[in-house]
Amino acid sequence: MINMKKSTFTFLAAFALAPAVMAQDFQPRMGEPLRGLSAAQYQRFADGLVEYDTILTVSDGLGPIFNDNSCGTCHASPVSGGSGTKLVTRFGKAATGLLPFDGLASLGGTLKQEQAIDPAVAEIVPAIADVVINRITPSTYGTGLLESIDDNDILALAATPLDPNVSGMVRMTQPFEGGPMRASKMGWKGGVATVLTFSADASLNEMGLTNRFVGLENAPNGDMALLAAWDSVPDPEDFPDPITGLERIDRQTDFQIFTAQPPQTPRSGMSGEVVFSSIGCAACHVDTEYITGANAEANLSGRSIKPYSDFLLHDMGALGDGISDGLATEQEMMTRTLWGMGQRESFLHDGRITGVPFDQLVNLTIQEHDGEAAFSRTNYNFLSVADKDALKNFLLSLGRAEGDWDNNNRVDEFDWFFLESLVTGPSAGTVTPDADGALVDFDQDGDVDMADLALFQQAYTF
Ligand code: HEC
Ligand code: HEC
Repeated sequence: MINMKKSTFTFLAAFALAPAVMAQDFQPRMGEPLRGLSAAQYQRFADGLVEYDTILTVSDGLGPIFNDNSCGTCHASPVSGGSGTKLVTRFGKAATGLLPFDGLASLGGTLKQEQAIDPAVAEIVPAIADVVINRITPSTYGTGLLESIDDNDILALAATPLDPNVSGMVRMTQPFEGGPMRASKMGWKGGVATVLTFSADASLNEMGLTNRFVGLENAPNGDMALLAAWDSVPDPEDFPDPITGLERIDRQTDFQIFTAQPPQTPRSGMSGEVVFSSIGCAACHVDTEYITGANAEANLSGRSIKPYSDFLLHDMGALGDGISDGLATEQEMMTRTLWGMGQRESFLHDGRITGVPFDQLVNLTIQEHDGEAAFSRTNYNFLSVADKDALKNFLLSLGRAEGDWDNNNRVDEFDWFFLESLVTGPSAGTVTPDADGALVDFDQDGDVDMADLALFQQAYTF
């Protein structure tokens, strides 16, 4: 038995001694492809990433009004496909008396396009709008797996709430590509069930590109004459590539569906997760694992994922955004996934919680939870300092890759500098999930030994 001490090892020497790599794999970092893709699928992921980051020009069909010029400009952090600080604006007219919420569709609502190919077509928020809110950019990692969650799992969660305080509603929607109605798992208010549908919708609404599903451009504040005067590219602006037959939206979809879910380290067993569930967070941010169901890409099925969401609409009281959208009322929001949140810097649908250290981000985000979630906020406020700290550490594990001490989606020398001293040698059971050593216990056997060092070496990104 070799008992390793920090002083006896330099970074490279440790690796020189590392034995053959164990079969156990480490998790993909954020933005990396799923494990187990075929060569053809990997190629589609890679081509899709290029498309996702392609900056569109006016001659490609960008605009006349748009929010930005590539998917990756908004979905950017920590790498393409991630969340972002970019906000979009939604507007409408609040319900009064017997009149329901009005999305002001004839005036270009509810989504405002911030940019225009010429100032003459720029959109404004119409004076009649009295609800004007922001929505921040969420991540698209793992969305193929979300799409593949069996709708029956979501329907079962709606039928049998995990806590008497909550009662979620499934939002069934029609995918653009046809087939039966599906349970929505994407968007702040639900509303979209498949990645291809979201890509087609985002292409039009964020970038102004018509495609095979949505052929009509957004008219600036509803002005069709203005649209006709400034929309010179023939529709559909997104058309099949002559060689592959794929449109932009298909390639964007390929990148997203083959991107892995964010990692979580340690994968389970933290005491903060027990706190999370005991105060009721897991009544909506469910901590059970989903095993993905059917998908046209067979190897997206049968995968185990923990996104920490029931994908149900909940009445969030004052946290609702005031926009009514299909079946989602002004107060209802869909439970947000929490995977990846340890590396995020702003929270909630309008990104209102930002600019403070992570423990305060967590505290302030919970304080905004209202309506059906108010009970869990109260429970949180009664926690001891130690339990709040454990909860924070658990939330920091969501998005962290093994070996990533400083939680920046890279495994490099800086991480090694801190993790080196945590090597225990083979003595299973000495490193608990709450210990710092768990960050480098790749094979999750409760120690940090040669097998873990070999995997650290593999995961090392320089
Ligand atoms: C201007 C910034 C911006 C651009 C450009 C953009 N998005 Fe988004 N994206 C957003 C915002 C904001 C949301 C949240 C929408 C909502 O729920 O209101 C979102 C949500 C999504 C979601 C749902 C994620 C989830 O889990 O809820 C997907 C998928 C997505 N976008 C894909 C794309 C694709 C593909 C493109 C390029 C065709 C794109 N987006 C371009 C800002 C942007
Ligand atoms: C009744 C269901 C419900 C409960 C209970 C609940 N949440 Fe949430 N949570 C939501 C919804 C819905 C959102 C999205 C809210 C929004 O911004 O509109 C959300 C958002 C969040 C976010 C921000 C996610 C993001 O992407 O910005 C965090 C973090 C979070 N919840 C953590 C918690 C914690 C911790 C608890 C327990 C104290 C908790 N939640 C309890 C439903 C719930």
